[in-house]
Amino acid sequence: MRLEVEVLATSEEIGRRAARVVLDELGAGRLRTLGVATGSSPEQVYAALAAAGARWDGVEVFALDEYVGLPPGHPQSYAAVVDREVRGPLGLDPARVHVPDGGARDLDAACAAYERALEQRGVDVQLLGIGATGHIGFNEPGSPFSSRTRVVELTERTVADNARFFDGPEDVPRRAVTQGVATIARARRHVLIAQGEAKADAVRAALEGEVSPDCPASALRTFDDVLVLLDPAAASGLTERPAGPRRPRPVPAGAR
Ligand code: GLP
Repeated sequence: MRLEVEVLATSEEIGRRAARVVLDELGAGRLRTLGVATGSSPEQVYAALAAAGARWDGVEVFALDEYVGLPPGHPQSYAAVVDREVRGPLGLDPARVHVPDGGARDLDAACAAYERALEQRGVDVQLLGIGATGHIGFNEPGSPFSSRTRVVELTERTVADNARFFDGPEDVPRRAVTQGVATIARARRHVLIAQGEAKADAVRAALEGEVSPDCPASALRTFDDVLVLLDPAAASGLTERPAGPRRPRPVPAGAR
């Protein structure tokens, strides 16, 4: 198990660092599947990946989550965001880009199908952001570490945080489909990005608090190979200031 924390000065540096992980795997012929996150955190990663001009032949892309109930083609649906920020700039084949179907009539069946596809395929590198609530994907506090792809309710805090992408909080869907914590855990490598002071508490809880579903991102400390990339503001709550790679804290018995 390896968990490294790096603090970098700018979002461009963070983007290039995360992109290097992805490109190294791609160059070594080990990237069959890339797991992508939405939100502001990974934007510079996609910019750096696009700038690299790599060939993505055969690589499949799976998104972490999707809102439930937005009309098809809504510009803030994650299907549209992934299409705009990842598929287009990287020149990927649309047939290889997968986003949970938040408009399915039978959502449970759609969740099960997505989970199956992920299990069959396996994710090589999973990019992650973190919510102010400590969510990864849309796994809000209380999400069991054993959870799989499913429909979830968003917290008021997440609705408020994501209102910036909509006309107002009342337009933000209250439900979403998300990969579960156990689904996310299966990826071979994880790169989590957090920037800004608003993430400092969640980052501290994830890295230094109890390993518990109260902070779903603390599950990272049970994963095999994790790189956490922070800007100084997001790292400002850490008491053990990371001076580069550091060893993870031991996971208490029973937390897995
Ligand atoms: C969103 C997404 C997450 C994302 C997180 C952080 O709600 N569902 O996948 O990682 O919140 O978003 P941002 O990077 O915009 O802060």
